[in-house]
Amino acid sequence: MELFPEPFRIKTVEPIKMISREEREAELKKAGYNLFLIDAEKIFVDLLTDSGTSAMSDKQWASIMVGDESYAGCRNFKNLEKTIRDIFGFKHLIPTHQGRAAENILFSLMVKPGDYVPNNTHFDTTRANVEANGGVAMDLVVDEAKDLTSQFPFKGNMDIKKLENFIREVGPDKIPLGMITITNNSIGGQPVSLDNIRQTAAVYRKYGILFFIDACRYAENSYFIKTREPGYENAKPIDIAREIFSMADGCTMSAKKDALVNIGGFLALNSDQLFEQFKQKLILVEGFPTYGGLAGRDLEAISTGLYEGLDEDYLKYRIAHTRYLADRLEEEGVPYVKPSGGHGIYVDAKAFLPHIPQEQFPGQALVAALYLEGGIRSVEIGSVMFAKYEANGKIIPPALELVRLAIPRRVYTLSHLDYVASVFGKVRQNMEQIKGLKFTYAPKALRHFTARFKPVEE
Ligand code: F0G
Repeated sequence: MELFPEPFRIKTVEPIKMISREEREAELKKAGYNLFLIDAEKIFVDLLTDSGTSAMSDKQWASIMVGDESYAGCRNFKNLEKTIRDIFGFKHLIPTHQGRAAENILFSLMVKPGDYVPNNTHFDTTRANVEANGGVAMDLVVDEAKDLTSQFPFKGNMDIKKLENFIREVGPDKIPLGMITITNNSIGGQPVSLDNIRQTAAVYRKYGILFFIDACRYAENSYFIKTREPGYENAKPIDIAREIFSMADGCTMSAKKDALVNIGGFLALNSDQLFEQFKQKLILVEGFPTYGGLAGRDLEAISTGLYEGLDEDYLKYRIAHTRYLADRLEEEGVPYVKPSGGHGIYVDAKAFLPHIPQEQFPGQALVAALYLEGGIRSVEIGSVMFAKYEANGKIIPPALELVRLAIPRRVYTLSHLDYVASVFGKVRQNMEQIKGLKFTYAPKALRHFTARFKPVEE
């Protein structure tokens, strides 16, 4: 792919510091080999997440200065409502402090025990919110997603046949709403085609099921449609986005992704009746409806960011930037989920470190090795996060052991990415020395955040 230079200049910089290898070794031990437990100041290149880590533009910082902090009826709410109607076409806006708060409001009011929610692939917080209300979160992604080397352009797609069979099996009255996640984060930031969204919407409509989109990375998904789906070469990303959302009844959004802000989210929808219920819950758990979980200034920065995130030059740069890291990793012989996704690269840790068995967490071992070698922070998406256990304690590992290198938006330059690839090269040279890990502490739920490990041979 052709590179497209950053369509921005750098006006403010934030120094980062590389501590010595000895210090990194000490930090790793102190943190029990869990990168969530290391202070950000001890990290050189932080690829833990693309969420809330974007650099805001000068215009967004200017938006912060025009925040109207009135408790009721602030002008920034009016403006965000106008923006949402323009891009997403939804009538009602529920502003929340981030994506999962929108999910909480949506599912706590719609899902009851025994219900099902289909999705291409639920993100962890989406699944957790469905399950917290007694529902079953069902993933129905296409089979291509499971083949890490397949170059299928829309690996994030919903499997339409599986979806329809599933609805018939459990019955539409047990499905209060259906979803689709664009891009599909959990399987590699892979996009969903417009045709697939259209077919998904048609199936939900056929069975009278409300259709909500998890919109976190909708702008990146729109750009993938433009560049990969025949017939959209000349369409503007904003028009593709409009077409996508015209097919849905509502969406949940973490503005910390494609709206280029550090905090914020929303729920948007058309139904007047549901809006009334959601609004009451918003008042209970977040705030008055015209600011919800945010300050007026945050609402304004989101409005500005939503348009910037859809800018065609920005998206051209963004997708090429991510692709650049994939190409450099390819040169270093690093196996990763193909094709490269929108917001990051997902390395196949099982293939990269074949000498470490799954019960010794190859993904976590690679995460630790990348920090020790180069101060890089990444995240394991494998057995630490998802393994299940038999009654006798035997591990049932997930199919994939991945390490995600998420790329914050407008933050790192190509030389940072070159650096990351070169660290992988060094790790590869000393691969045999990397040891598997075992738990010294593991909480029951969401253990990846606080678990502690030590190398197996100690
Ligand atoms: N949906 C998707 C697809 C996400 O990727 C996330 C967050 C959320 C919902 C929840 O949004 O964090 O604002 O509450 N993903 C982050 C990540 C945390 O690192 O992938 P939130």
